[in-house]
Amino acid sequence: MLPNDETLFDKVVNLSKRRGFVFQSAEIYGGFRSAYDYGPLGVLLLRNVKEQWWRSMVQLRHDVVGLDASILSPPAVWQASGHLANFSDPMVDCRECGARHRQDKLDDPNACPSCGKSGSLTEAREFNLMFKTHAGPMVESAAEVYLRPETAQGMFVNFANVLNTSRKKPPFGIAQIGKSFRNEITPGNFVFRTREFEQMEMEFFVPPEDSDEWYRYWCGARMDWYLDLGMPEDRLRLREHDADELSHYSTGTSDVEFAFPWGWDELEGIANRTDFDLKRHAESSGTKLEYHDPASGERYVPHVIEPAAGATRTAMAFLMAAYDEEEVNDDVRTVLRLDHRLAPYKVAVLPLSKKPELIEPSNEVLGLLQPHWMCDYDQTQAIGRRYRRQDEIGTPYCVTIDFDTLEDRAVTVRDRDSMTQERVPIDGLVDHMAGRLPA
Ligand code: GAP
Repeated sequence: MLPNDETLFDKVVNLSKRRGFVFQSAEIYGGFRSAYDYGPLGVLLLRNVKEQWWRSMVQLRHDVVGLDASILSPPAVWQASGHLANFSDPMVDCRECGARHRQDKLDDPNACPSCGKSGSLTEAREFNLMFKTHAGPMVESAAEVYLRPETAQGMFVNFANVLNTSRKKPPFGIAQIGKSFRNEITPGNFVFRTREFEQMEMEFFVPPEDSDEWYRYWCGARMDWYLDLGMPEDRLRLREHDADELSHYSTGTSDVEFAFPWGWDELEGIANRTDFDLKRHAESSGTKLEYHDPASGERYVPHVIEPAAGATRTAMAFLMAAYDEEEVNDDVRTVLRLDHRLAPYKVAVLPLSKKPELIEPSNEVLGLLQPHWMCDYDQTQAIGRRYRRQDEIGTPYCVTIDFDTLEDRAVTVRDRDSMTQERVPIDGLVDHMAGRLPA
């Protein structure tokens, strides 16, 4: 672990680019600031983060169902949610150098962090963070639509649809993973704050009198999710908001924070949103958004507990937490100690040489493993260098096919963390790996 290494940020950004986790978007055109493309390894890591979230939030529960709502939505949704009026950040301009900053993120509210000039900043203006576009061929106000700045409103707007079709009743949740868009004034810190990003959000609808209990429950459950996936305890904390930090509708909010190289920062917010959203949408749309218990005849508007996480931001935190360097034989070995469930490739199949007689059994081994796990295949360079390449991208196991394989139909399995090797018969290889890797 290198938590105190000041160069950790640069090392992870560098590795991400060099090994194909994350690329600057439109790089060949000079790069599109604040947008990133996930390369062959990044797409796997991100999918694994999202899959683990979905598994724990939907698959392993009987009280949460999924949703995939549209990204484009009409102004009415954002009028009701309060985003049109309130989803803004205070922006200041520097009269000296023209740079724009978020006032609430300035260390010194009088000086420009770009040019250092004191007294050069304008008064703050509220800048709405939503991206607006037009649906259809006419660029007119009647055709205005918004790209969602959060996935959450999709769950509120579909509350009645889900209630009527899923046979769920409070307490129950609706979960969604998807892209959100915010016209951030100051994107930065690599993929930490971008204008296009992915969220993993769940709205949990509960009887009003149970909301505090469920809020505490979800704070604990969400912390456990990160820890179970290998986040070190000393780099993760739950920070409860002070009363003056709370949104006007929230009676409690806690952030899951990670110790990034620049300090503690948010991965996820868990909020008690009360009945604010359902009431607002009910008033604005004229549709009843409440639960009617047929047995007792009771009617009420559920309160909502919302665990809202960023998938892209969380993937970056897992990368930072996993990055390690250690000295091996007077050399520095870089190793991503990712939990096996998150590692992009689970196994690398490595023929010792490119000689044709080793390629056939290597293809056989690859064919046996691929239906079960994401595998890499690499037949060039010295075996030691290939092991190091796999260590650097977090592959838990390397399987080497050598000339003995032709005699004994066995392969060498090397462990990423301990670097120990063992000989395993090809016929028992899938069972051997199944005892060590996630299904
Ligand atoms: N529905 C509530 C909501 O959206 P949020 O705290 O604004 O709450 C939830 O966002 C999570 O989404 C954040 O904790 C963060 O992980 C992620 N997120 C928000 N803005 C982001 C951005 N500009 N870039 C990357 N991730 C972002």
